[in-house]
Amino acid sequence: MSQRYYIVGNWKMNGLRSAMTEARAIDRAAQRLPKVEVAIAPPATLIATMREGVTHIGVGAQNCHMAEKGAHTGDLSAQMLREAGADFVIVGHSERRADHHETDADVKAKAEAAQSIDMGVILCCGESEAERDSGEAEEIVARQLAASLPDGCQRLSVAYEPIWAIGTGRVPQVSDVAAMHRRLRTVLTDKYGDAGADVRILYGGSVKGDNAAELLAVPDVGGALVGGASLTADGFVPIIAAAAEQD
Ligand code: 13P
Repeated sequence: MSQRYYIVGNWKMNGLRSAMTEARAIDRAAQRLPKVEVAIAPPATLIATMREGVTHIGVGAQNCHMAEKGAHTGDLSAQMLREAGADFVIVGHSERRADHHETDADVKAKAEAAQSIDMGVILCCGESEAERDSGEAEEIVARQLAASLPDGCQRLSVAYEPIWAIGTGRVPQVSDVAAMHRRLRTVLTDKYGDAGADVRILYGGSVKGDNAAELLAVPDVGGALVGGASLTADGFVPIIAAAAEQD
């Protein structure tokens, strides 16, 4: 099944209300490029404002708790995020796995919590630099993904983000991206059967306007998860345009 490219901005811990100027400019560009599915995951504090301020892009969260409610000071459930206006949630980002010690089992539980209320999920995986240097990156990431996947694949996307490529300006060889995405596809079809072929696998890590076309052309790359370059329309729109120009 051929699907639209999915280009998602992960704003991480960036963005006050003033950033809505950029979000609205990105929204206008997305209207002009309907071949591409565009979304932004702003900080949770901006979800409701963004949902009201944009029309043509999805709005998502960067994390959720796995429980529906309860004594978890400072956390937000999937249902709370959806009520604020999020229609998907990113789970298992390497920064959360590192900063908050999230395990594969935690990531799976969070994905299932979001799916249980019909939210989309973008599930992140990726290797460290030492793991890449070991020559075992594909096996390691395949194992990480298999252990993190929810039981069902409804509204699921996967993001392959090599940790050493995040925010560094370094990007893997296109052949390495191709090999990893091929490997992750087999993990998905092993788990979900034919439906695993339709799960989009995004690439993330130093995606910019000038490398997006090359990365998006790789077989089994169904979109991009973009950090720094998604914070401004000037940075993000060329990536969306590169997706629109793919065959
Ligand atoms: P950069 O695009 O800033 O490298 O970040 C990638 C990322 O972590 C997106 O989730």
